[in-house]
Amino acid sequence: MPNNAPIGVFDSGMGGISVVNQIHQELPQEDILFFGDSANAPYGTRSTADVQKLSFAVADHLIDLGAKALVIACNTATSAAAQAMRERYSIPIIGMEPALKLACDLGHGEPQHVIVTATPLTLREKKFAALMERFSAEHKIDKLPCPKLVEIVENGQIQDANLVRATLAEYLAPFDLSSVNSIVLGCTHFTYYRDYFRAAVPKHVHIVDGNDGTARHLHDVLERTNALAERDTPGRVTLDNSSPDPRMRALGESFLQ
Ligand code: SIN
Repeated sequence: MPNNAPIGVFDSGMGGISVVNQIHQELPQEDILFFGDSANAPYGTRSTADVQKLSFAVADHLIDLGAKALVIACNTATSAAAQAMRERYSIPIIGMEPALKLACDLGHGEPQHVIVTATPLTLREKKFAALMERFSAEHKIDKLPCPKLVEIVENGQIQDANLVRATLAEYLAPFDLSSVNSIVLGCTHFTYYRDYFRAAVPKHVHIVDGNDGTARHLHDVLERTNALAERDTPGRVTLDNSSPDPRMRALGESFLQ
């Protein structure tokens, strides 16, 4: 695979553009080809088989366009399809993981109370059950499915502060936030809500996501496989989307930094 081939990145929609931003910061010389599957979003309320089928279709497309590696910038697609994709494709496949380890490590050995926000499918999948098993003996972990947060982003309503505040208040109402140490943003769409979460929870609550870890992991994998781009100029970022709605292009660009 030529080193200057692009990195393919995909998501069910707009959330993965936050990962594109992180990758571009970590690996500025790389070309990035992003595909948002907004025509089929949300993935998080679909079945595992459905999400696998959709993920294969997008991955086939990105590989046809010459991708040297694939980043599944979607926690739901990672949970449902990453393993099957690694069996199907020969190029490196890098996925997301809810940053539960990062949240628990912030306690420096003290038991933590962590709320993991994600889609219903991510929280139902075996991958998340394995994470729970690893950390729940020592820490209190609450699962919080937040499908409405995906819809708000895909509908271009993230700037509607009243709607977002009311939606977050409804999701967080069952929790005594004074005892919570961290909130994990376990869906790439949710990273756009960081400031809203910050304003909705007490100052001591950490808000963490997995974007940085994924970009660093990608860097390590490309380095290890001798696949880092060989150019001195900045790489190009290209956004594509499955939705026929022309407004999706402008929406995607609004999330690009
Ligand atoms: C969704 O499409 O429901 C969100 C996908 C994700 O987990 O990032």
